[in-house]
This record gives sequence, structure tokens and C-alpha cells, in this order.
Amino acid sequence: MSDGVMTGRARMLAALRLERVDRPPAWFMRQAGRHLPGYRALRERASFLDLCRDEELCAEASSEPWRRYGVDGAIVFNDILIPLRDMGIGLEFDPGPRLERLIATEAEAEGLTRPAYGPATDVCRCIGALRGVVGESAAVLGFIGAPFTVAAFAVAGPGSGRGGPLEEIVRERRAAMEAVQERLLPVLVSYAMAQAAAGADVIQVFESLAGEVDRRTYREVGLPCLLRVVRTLRSALAPTPVIVFGRGLWPFMDSIAGAEPAALSLGPSRPLAEARRRLRRLGLSTALQGNLAGEVLREEPARAARAAEELLARWASVVPLPERSRELGPTGWVFNLGHGVPADARPESVLAVAEAVRGFRMDREEVER
Ligand code: CP3
Repeated sequence: MSDGVMTGRARMLAALRLERVDRPPAWFMRQAGRHLPGYRALRERASFLDLCRDEELCAEASSEPWRRYGVDGAIVFNDILIPLRDMGIGLEFDPGPRLERLIATEAEAEGLTRPAYGPATDVCRCIGALRGVVGESAAVLGFIGAPFTVAAFAVAGPGSGRGGPLEEIVRERRAAMEAVQERLLPVLVSYAMAQAAAGADVIQVFESLAGEVDRRTYREVGLPCLLRVVRTLRSALAPTPVIVFGRGLWPFMDSIAGAEPAALSLGPSRPLAEARRRLRRLGLSTALQGNLAGEVLREEPARAARAAEELLARWASVVPLPERSRELGPTGWVFNLGHGVPADARPESVLAVAEAVRGFRMDREEVER
């Protein structure tokens, strides 16, 4: 399923390493989910946790978007909350996550176990099976949640069962939040390292809940742990690239980029050009990922494709990154959404967007401008 001269895997890695690409690589966050008929049929036969455990079912769920859309990345089917289950908090999905208990105190946080991850871990076997299906035609992405986001689920509960705004709960239970994050940090790092050792080409870190607390709270409680994770993974995983995705991280972009992830994933309201300018001013050549608004995938295919073409055209004016980028083509960017594929997205519109990216060729003159 490679188009042009590069395989999807090579294209993804080259874009993240600022090496030459023929066109930007593309994948979609939450591409393997409810909007796909194959996924819904799989879920009739198997539970969410079965898909995370059984490597054949997992590879089937993860590879459906690759097969349908020809994307350059296949993310392993798993969840950011699986490590909480491994640490001793019962977890079910129906379809959203449910935790058997919440962590309210430091003592409870200290009682969480420290799982050992390795080649036999479910997600690692699943990554091996997924590679067997996609081969070189797509990068295999592994992922973890950032400590703050995962700890917020453990302390405050999933969104609907939270009983109040996250901001208040984090402030009231700050000691528990910090203790859970401390326990999580080495566990999440080892979960990511095991995935890379099992063959994941890229690790994405999801900080999905940063925007649900005010800036000061996030700066004090969440950001330090995100930076530690990124720095640790960056050196422990090198050369495997790390992508940081988050909601509400824009105010902290400079310090996150300073921890030197390969790429930052931007929300739909943030212009790629502005991010690039800010990063250049800092002397950083961090790659970017994003940031088409997921809502366009609910529209008819022609409109979705047009929205993608507009983003591609805007990128053409952003490109000059390292001084040497003239010969490199549209590198330093992974085409994606600002956040996930909505559950009611139209598969034919997702396909139209993927085809728009595949058809994109940077005009040399534009690159050299
Ligand atoms: O294609 C993929 O991205 C599949 C792998 C994946 C899932 N969850 C499967 C899933 C990934 C990368 C995640 C990450 C995840 N999980 C995040 C961070 C990403 C984000 O959207 O910000 C978060 C916050 C979670 C926790 C979680 N899992 C929630 C809040 C929910 C319920 C809400 C929802 O979107 O349905 C889940 C369930 C979940 N995880 C589903 C899937 C496909 C839906 C389950 C179903 O309906 O069958």
C-alpha cells in the first residue's frame, strides 16, 4: 500500500526526523474506532479488553483504517488506562472506561503495584502482530498517556462519573494526584519502552486533560511530569521518535519543545505557521503534527477533501524549517487531525482526506520561495 517511491513507514520516520519526503505522511488519531463498520462488527464478537489482549483481533482493529484509507501509520489498539489496571485498579469499558475504585490518598497511591512489562505483555504481542500485517507500508505507533492525564482518571474518575470539574478535584486532592503521578511515571516509561522494543516505530504521548484545569494548576501539577517523561523517553528510546499530543498545551509549547520530542501535535485552532515561527525563534526544529478539524469528517467527501487541500496549501507556505530544507520537500510535518476521528465520521470522507494527502506534491518553486 505504498504510493510513490517511499513506503509509509519510511515517509513517517523521515518526516519526523526532518529528512526528505515525497509528501507528508498521514494518519488519524482515533482512526481505529466506532466510525468504522469493521470495528463495530469486531466489538459484537469481542469486548474492548479482548481487542487489547488478543493479538489477532487487535491487529484486525488496528489495520482496518490502514487497509481502507492507505494511511502511513497504524496505531496499536490499546488504551491509555491499561497501565492503571496493571497497577491494581480494576478496569472495564462499556464503552467508556470504568474504574473499580478511585485513588483518594497518598497511602492508596503508594499501594499501587509496579507491573513488569516485556515482550509477553499484551500490547507488545499486539505490536508484533500488527507489524506482521502492515509490514513496511505503515509505521506502527505505540502510545502512553501522560502521567497527569492518567492520574486524573485514577483520582477523579472518567468524565461522566467525576462529580465535579476536574480543576476542583485536582486542587482538593493534589497530594494524591502527585503521588499517583510519581507511581505512574516509571510504569508509563517502561510501557513505552516495551512497545518500542516490540517494534513500535513511534511513541505518542497523550496529555488529553491538560486543558481541563487552569494554567497555573497544570503548570504546577501536570507539566513537570510530562517534561520528565518526554526527556526520559527521548534519551531511552532514541532514535525512536516521540510525539506529544495534548489539549490545552499551547501555552506550554516552548517548555515542552525544550524537552525535545520529535514532534508536537497541534489542536485544530492553532496555525501550523505560528507554531513553526515560535519554534524557530527558540532555535528548535521540532516537527509538527495535525491539525485538520475532525468535524469536517462528518461532511460529504468533497467538502472534507477541500478542507484537507486548504491545510496542505497552507503548509506549503510554512515549510522552510532547517536551512537545508529546500531539497527536502514537505518534511517536518505529519498530517493528522487536531484531535480524534469523531464516532459519527463518514468513512468515505476520511478516505477523501487521505486521498487528498496522497495526491499532494509540493511545488519546488513554493519550497524555494
Ligand atoms: O485508533 C485509535 O486511536 C485506537 C487506540 C486508542 C483508544 N484509546 C481506543 C479506544 C487510543 C490511542 C486511545 C487513547 C485514549 N484513551 C485517550 C487519549 C486520546 C484522546 O482522545 O484524548 C483517552 C483520554 C482514553 C480514555 C478513554 N478510552 C475514554 C475517555 C474513552 C471513552 C470515550 C470514547 O472516546 O469513546 C475510551 C474508550 C475507547 N478507547 C474507545 C476506543 C476505540 C471507544 C470504545 C468503543 O466505543 O468501543
